[in-house]
This record gives sequence, C-alpha cells and structure tokens, in this order.
Amino acid sequence: MKAKDLRKKFLDFFASKQHAILPSSSVIPENDPTVLFTTAGMQPLVPFLMGKKHPKGERLVDAQKCIRTNDIEEVGDEVHHTFFEMLGNWSLGDYFKKEAIAWSYEFLTKELDIPPEKLAISVFKGDKDAPKDEEAASYWKELGIPEERVAYLPKSENWWGPAGQTGPCGPDTEMFYWTGEKAPKKFDPEDSRWVEIWNDVFMQYNKKEDGSFEELSQQNVDTGMGLERVTAVLQGKEDDYETELFSPIIKTIGKLSGKKYKDNKKAMRVIADHLKAAVFILAEQKVAPSNVDQGYVLRRLIRRAIRYGRQLGIADMFTTQVAEPIFPIYTEYDELKKGKEFILTELKKEEERFTQTLQRGLNVLAKMLKEKKELSGKDTFLLFQSYGFPIEMTEELAKEKKVKVDKKAFEKAYEDHQNLSRKGAEQKFKGGLADASEQTTKLHTATHLLNQ
Ligand code: SER
Repeated sequence: MKAKDLRKKFLDFFASKQHAILPSSSVIPENDPTVLFTTAGMQPLVPFLMGKKHPKGERLVDAQKCIRTNDIEEVGDEVHHTFFEMLGNWSLGDYFKKEAIAWSYEFLTKELDIPPEKLAISVFKGDKDAPKDEEAASYWKELGIPEERVAYLPKSENWWGPAGQTGPCGPDTEMFYWTGEKAPKKFDPEDSRWVEIWNDVFMQYNKKEDGSFEELSQQNVDTGMGLERVTAVLQGKEDDYETELFSPIIKTIGKLSGKKYKDNKKAMRVIADHLKAAVFILAEQKVAPSNVDQGYVLRRLIRRAIRYGRQLGIADMFTTQVAEPIFPIYTEYDELKKGKEFILTELKKEEERFTQTLQRGLNVLAKMLKEKKELSGKDTFLLFQSYGFPIEMTEELAKEKKVKVDKKAFEKAYEDHQNLSRKGAEQKFKGGLADASEQTTKLHTATHLLNQ
C-alpha cells in the first residue's frame, strides 16, 4: 500500500465513524509559545482536550505534519525522522477505551488486512498515579487477542504526555506488528521484530506543575500512527527510506554524489530527512535560517545536511536539487507549491553562507580535536562565530573523536561576548518554555543566548 492510500484510508475510515476531518495544522505552533514546533497530532488540540469546545465537534481525525528534533542525532538509522506525518483520531470527551480499541482493531485487520496473528498489544501496568489498565486489556481480549500477546508495561513505555511539562496525558495501549517470519505465540516487547505501529492514549489526567496528576473534566482519546513507519511495514520494508516517501530524494542524492545508497546509508538518510524537514518549515514562509528559536533549528538542519553532503563528496551547491523531488511526493500540501520560491531561495542563501566557511572551520576543528581532550568555550565560540558552526554540530564532530565539549563554557563565552550577566540572562530565559525535553529546553536557552 502506498502512503497516499494509507493516509486516505485512515481519514475515510474515521469519517465513516462520524469524525470530522481536519486539515493539518502548521508545523510552527500558532498559539503556543511554549514549544518551537508541533511534535504530535494532539498538540494543536490541547485546549480542546482540556475541555474547550471544538467547532468541528467531539470526534476528529487528521494527518498532522510534525517536527521532532529532540533525537536529531538518531537520524541516520532506519526509523528516526525530524519530519513525519502522524495519523490520528480523537475523542474529546466522547467515546473512550472500548470504541477506540475496537476501531483500531477494525482498521488494522479489515482496512489494512493485517492478519490478527501478526498483532501484539501493550497496556499500562499501573503505579501510584493510575491503576493497571485491565479495562483496555479486556477489550483486546474480547476482540480475540490472546492473553500471551498482551504485555503490561510501566509508565516509561505505556504512558503518553504531557507534551510539555504540564497538561493532558494518560495511560496508553500500543499495537505492534510482527515483521519477521512466523510470529511467536508470546509477545516479547524486547524483540525488535515487533514494530510499534499505533498508539491509543487515554487522556484522562492533567499533569500539574508540582508533578501530581488530577482527573480531567472529560475523558479523551488521542491516537497516533506514524505514516512513514507504517507505510514501510506494510510494504515489507525494514527501511523507511526505501518507500516512495523518500526514495526519489535518495535517488537524487545518489546521482549528485555518484555514490550508492547501500554503502552510504547514514549520510544519505540525514540529508534526505533534514532537507525534507527544512522544506516543510520554510514552506510556511514565517521562518528563515537564523540564530534564534525555530530559525536556529532550521539552520542546524540545513547545515548538518550540507556537512553530510560534502562528506559524501558533493562539491557543488546541492540543497535545492535535493529539495526538488520532495515537492511531487507531497501534492496534498498546497503550502509547498505556494512556498516553493521562498523555500529554494532560502536554502540556496543558507548553503552559500555556510559553504564559504565550512571547510576552513572543519580544518580548524580537526586541529583542535587532534591536540585537545576537551574543547573550551573559546574554541567552540570561535567555531560558532567565525565559521558558523552550530554548537551542536561541534559537539557531534567532537563526539566522533571522543573529545569532550564544555558547553556551559560556550554559553558563558557567548554571554561574555554580549556583555550580559548570567543572572540577567537566566531571568530572561525563564518562563514560557514548557517543553519536557531537556534537550529542547537547553537548545532554547542557548538560542535565546545567541539572540541577545
Ligand atoms: N500523542 C501520542 C503520540 O504522539 C499519540 O498520538 O504518540
């Protein structure tokens, strides 16, 4: 099944269950200053999960464009992406566990024709905050999932949210698909041949600032299915990059570099992934590469792609050529068509800016990495200021050579440069940022620093 068909089937299926189809929201949150990007389908819906009335009703479905940069360094393996689409259906205080589970099962087995023998389930095992989810497990069993295919797992696995530090969250039940030969009778969540394909979250709690949980005024359902992953799984591919959502991009990188994908997977995946994310961020024509907030993340994505491109041996300007095949993959998204000129212009400008200093910067860094065990604030700040190296890029390159980086000293060097007292700076950066990810918080702090 093609991704386009999966997307359409999902929307149509839930529309047939009286869900209103919503267009994807912007990847740059419109009314939420606490996060840089939309990281999940539920994020634009937080006020409605908290009880506000949604104009389209209590049952919603969409395919949401998401940007997740917390594990940017994981990109390069088969399954991590900074841009992805999440298929999701929601109940805003309407149906709850029974219907959500029954419809998930129906969609997987009837619409996607997945044989039930290839499915396994995990549910929340319970702790001091919430009880063991016997109820969810019982619905799965009623549908025919055998007891040994249900695993009870702790919060780290079967609890989702809040997206920020506070907000709606709850226990979840995850569906796994067997990608190996014959599926074993018993579900072993540690066996990576079981691939997670869908997550139904039962959002009935609100996490408060003090870390405690209170019942929400309504019981919600929030589900999420990663389009790229499920497309790959249904096509029998282990590698998301071999699906039509990526293969035309990979092919172009192959042509430009004269190299084969099978020998250069990591670099080609990083370039394809990061430039796709950059295209979608730029498409909204609100953000250009800069040293602050979304613009800084965008800059990191583009510069990391460029560095991998040079590493592959592409000597000429290439980002706009890699971007070209992205447009026909996503004809659903008008903003790509409308924003094309802006996207290509900004990519080209950023590549020109960075290319001027990249090689000299790499030489300077190579020398430092040879001579030192740890890079000081002065080193990393020099690379940042004179050669345009985002601190995270320096960190990544240093890590490859097992050299440490004093990141605090970088921030300090930056402050000193700006003549800002640390206290004054910290006060400025406090407040507002409610993203749970430590990395994002750090990044946010650093980028604010950079902007001062
Ligand atoms: N919010 C959940 C997730 O991101 C389900 O959509 O996985």
